[in-house]
Amino acid sequence: MAQNWTPASWRDRPALQMPAYPDPAALGAVEARLGGYPPLVFAGEARGLKAALAAAARGDAFLLQGGDCAESFAEFHPDTIRDTFRVMLQMSVVLTFGAACPVVKVGRMAGQFAKPRSSDTESRDGVTLPAYRGDMINDMAFTEDARRPDPERMVQAYNQSAATLNLLRAFAQGGYADLHKVHQWTLGFVEGSPQADRYRGLAGRLDEALDFMAACGLTASTTPQIRETDFYTSHEALLLEYEQAMTRVDSTTGDWYDTSAHMLWIGDRTRQLDGAHVTFLRGIGNPVGVKAGPTMTGDELLRLIDTLNPANEPGRLTVIVRFGADKVEGMLPPMLRAIRREGRQVVWACDPMHANTVKSSVGYKTRKFDSILREVRGFFAAHRAEGTHPGGVHFEMTGQNVTECVGGAHAITEANLSDRYHTHCDPRLNAEQALELAFLLSEILKDHRTRRHAQARQAAS
Ligand code: PEP
Ligand code: CO
Repeated sequence: MAQNWTPASWRDRPALQMPAYPDPAALGAVEARLGGYPPLVFAGEARGLKAALAAAARGDAFLLQGGDCAESFAEFHPDTIRDTFRVMLQMSVVLTFGAACPVVKVGRMAGQFAKPRSSDTESRDGVTLPAYRGDMINDMAFTEDARRPDPERMVQAYNQSAATLNLLRAFAQGGYADLHKVHQWTLGFVEGSPQADRYRGLAGRLDEALDFMAACGLTASTTPQIRETDFYTSHEALLLEYEQAMTRVDSTTGDWYDTSAHMLWIGDRTRQLDGAHVTFLRGIGNPVGVKAGPTMTGDELLRLIDTLNPANEPGRLTVIVRFGADKVEGMLPPMLRAIRREGRQVVWACDPMHANTVKSSVGYKTRKFDSILREVRGFFAAHRAEGTHPGGVHFEMTGQNVTECVGGAHAITEANLSDRYHTHCDPRLNAEQALELAFLLSEILKDHRTRRHAQARQAAS
């Protein structure tokens, strides 16, 4: 564990993207209350995720991280949680079955409520107000009252996270995720689409495999992996007052863990080496991530890796690259080379969303399915060229039938965006687009793994 570190060490560092609360006494009272609330996750679970991510760092597993850009209080509903969970289950079956690769499932769920913004303020018709920073900080409505940061929102975010996590645990362990139910995970509105047909074909083959396994004595009652799954939670550790209040000493190891989620990451705007966010995350025992956008350099990344993972522990650190479809093939290979040369162990994950955001002709923020896919392909090509492991993907997605990203088999156009554009922040893949991407990804991953195994056999002979 980091020396001389306390959960409050971040407080004397420059902290970007944090709200200025007008009433420090009210803030302090909320922090004290949260500090006494039960942890949302147990440190042993975070260590379980770290071990699963260590396999992804070695190329023996693949990380699927996904969910809303920003969760919202208004859209808090069991169906929303269930639908995102089941699309992730479907995607993970597609990847596991298609590429014979274990999938580590991590939701951007149960805590993803705070957002970095490009500007501190927003102006409309000559009126300037503080920017909306996510439901745990202020309200999206454009009024002075709504935009004032309110610490009570942290308590609401905690409660919503607890209820969300409770349902996710029930789904993951209570029978919903049983592989025999693979047919039932299809969402109504995906029915009749090419993805649904393809998915049904895969589910049929999976049934046969399960029958075969049962004949060999491996059934849901003898093999828990058939009837339940591990599902982890994550969010951007942005609002450090909240994260500090949720940070506790783990009684079994004596180490500090942020119990607000299994995994926490640092955004591309708050990854300054001496900044508050890096200072906070370096001291917790959870697996952590750091986003790397187009301004990141190899040297900078090495210094961040040394600060966040000084023991070079595999699974501790995930580097989530988001360079953009046009830049990934130029920027990623030298970075992979630099990190490999120094012998650093990280999970390399591809976020093909955040550097591919464009404004549609009518003003909606959107992303093109083709750019997303192109960045994923560029990510894999870079790893193939350098002999490193593509460890996972990071998507903004939902199980709802939204129209926020353009393209995909259903060919959502710019004119369709206004139909069901619901996101509180960035545009998400809908369930059908996410499933389509999973099928394409499974082919890319399968090809990658086949080559790698062939190379290993050749090297051994
Ligand atoms: C996000 O993941 O929603 C986000 C803001 O990403 P980034 O920090 O990579 O811009
Ligand atoms: Co986003």
